[in-house]
Amino acid sequence: MNENPKILVVGSINMDLVTITKRTPAIGETIIGKDFKMIPGGKGANQAVAAARMGAEVAFIGCVGDDIYGDKLLEALRDESININGITRVNNIPTGIANIIVDEKANNSIIVVPGANSKVHAENINANMELIDWCDIIILQLEIPLETVMKCIEEGKKRGKTIIFNPAPVQKLNEEIFKYIDYLIVNEIEAKQISETDEEDHFKLVEKLLNIGFRNVIMTVGEKGVLFNENSGIKYIPAIKVNAIDTTAAGDSFVGTFATSLGNGADKDISIHDAVRAAAITVTRIGAQSSLPYKNEI
Ligand code: RIB
Repeated sequence: MNENPKILVVGSINMDLVTITKRTPAIGETIIGKDFKMIPGGKGANQAVAAARMGAEVAFIGCVGDDIYGDKLLEALRDESININGITRVNNIPTGIANIIVDEKANNSIIVVPGANSKVHAENINANMELIDWCDIIILQLEIPLETVMKCIEEGKKRGKTIIFNPAPVQKLNEEIFKYIDYLIVNEIEAKQISETDEEDHFKLVEKLLNIGFRNVIMTVGEKGVLFNENSGIKYIPAIKVNAIDTTAAGDSFVGTFATSLGNGADKDISIHDAVRAAAITVTRIGAQSSLPYKNEI
């Protein structure tokens, strides 16, 4: 692959409505928060911005509503030089939002209301087939309908593209698609659900995913680090110790950076090390796209 890898992200775009608070309220309780911010987010858009900031050429397929959030989110992607020709504005349905609470221990809780993201259908893929032809790598998540994700994986594979799949938020998958995925990037919860096991041993969990048909499994385990398979077995890389203030988009930072390094010709091990460094920076800053680092920082 070349110096500036061409990456297509097919996924979600959300406005994150972020409340910063000492602690998350209990059910029925009202508390006074510390701060509120509106920050561009959405797993797909975050991964696209992460890749663009690492130097990839990025195009996006998705949907936003015909509202002010849609305007602002498109502007944010345009500012990153992301090709937004594949983003459709839909009427009578709002742009996706995420209600995010971040507490003083850097924990977050998120409710996503998909809105326009639920309108990303096979027609959006068919209408943008030239972007699938154009790219080297396709990145997908699960904040748009699963059928669309499956269609895109199939079309991408037919054209020999590298498929990176981050199945978040996780749902039951048709195992038919496992063989089409080049790199599966999961956290521990996603790994357990996809492999349908309660396995607590991280190494065995990665093995289970390999046994059910994934070729390359990368499992992030938060502040503990990352596990992935190599020819010699399963390797573990510890996370970098930092003072985390908000973990939102750490996984997205990891995915976008990994894809770009891989597209630049780095091997899996080096690409994962780059991604670990990017994710470590991301958790030291507030917000999703506001926290994603640039290439010169990692
Ligand atoms: O991964 C973080 C993202 O999840 C947030 O930006 C939010 O929009 C949700 O999609």
